[in-house]
Amino acid sequence: MHTRRPTIGVFDSGFGGLTVLKALLEVIPEADYLYFGDTARLPYGSKSVETVARYAVEAAHYLENHGSAFLVIACNTATALAFDRIISAAHVPVIGVVDPGAEAAAAVSKNQKVVVIGTEATIGSHAYHKALAARGIDAREKACPLLVPLVEEGWVEHSVTEQIARIYLDEAFAGEFRDADTLVLGCTHYPLLKPLLRRASPALVSIVDSAESTAHAVASHLQNLLPANSSVAEERRSLARLRFFATDSVEKFKRLGALFLKQPIDDVQHVDLKE
Ligand code: DGL
Repeated sequence: MHTRRPTIGVFDSGFGGLTVLKALLEVIPEADYLYFGDTARLPYGSKSVETVARYAVEAAHYLENHGSAFLVIACNTATALAFDRIISAAHVPVIGVVDPGAEAAAAVSKNQKVVVIGTEATIGSHAYHKALAARGIDAREKACPLLVPLVEEGWVEHSVTEQIARIYLDEAFAGEFRDADTLVLGCTHYPLLKPLLRRASPALVSIVDSAESTAHAVASHLQNLLPANSSVAEERRSLARLRFFATDSVEKFKRLGALFLKQPIDDVQHVDLKE
């Protein structure tokens, strides 16, 4: 049995993937983490497959070259548009957010009718639709492009955000999906809106957070690498190392990132990816 502490590389277009890192820290506190936020080139959610794939592969290589033994693609857009390209370019195991999210939704939904919300690009790719259809689930996908900037503005409990979310969700939970019983949060930013989205969704809808589902999927992949003895895990947890890389302002990453991670962010290094 291995007890070597793994280094997990987490990639996102910017700050949002810190919701996935937060979930990972809760589920796998005994690992080291390298987080890469491509803040200079966000948002990915409005970009083409070609561009997102190129950016994502560069980031994956960066994380590998800095010692990641495992990669988590925290960005829904990058996973939806470029997962196959990232896997072929990477030399270490890779996990994305779409399959774990679809798996969790399939387990939760009782009537096999699910609504998925995400960026324009994620929804346009139909990655969630395909992943859910493969599990016998009927999905309605709804792009909610205004939600990412509202979250980045810090308007997570603002009446304007709630009004906009209600418009999107009313459109999604309509017609034959009026009785859909599950809502998948297919974007890194949406976990911050969970209370608001719950209020704006029909009563009794279950909310699946792909950040949490992904953290559990990573934990089962890494089972053999993690320290089995809990006192060893505890000791190692206290030494947990978090390092952050951002392609835009380090100061902005620290400030905005703390909102997503819900803890102060210190060790941020600026990265200049030459195109
Ligand atoms: N990280 C992106 C996602 O989960 C949202 C932000 C962006 O568009 O870059 O889809």
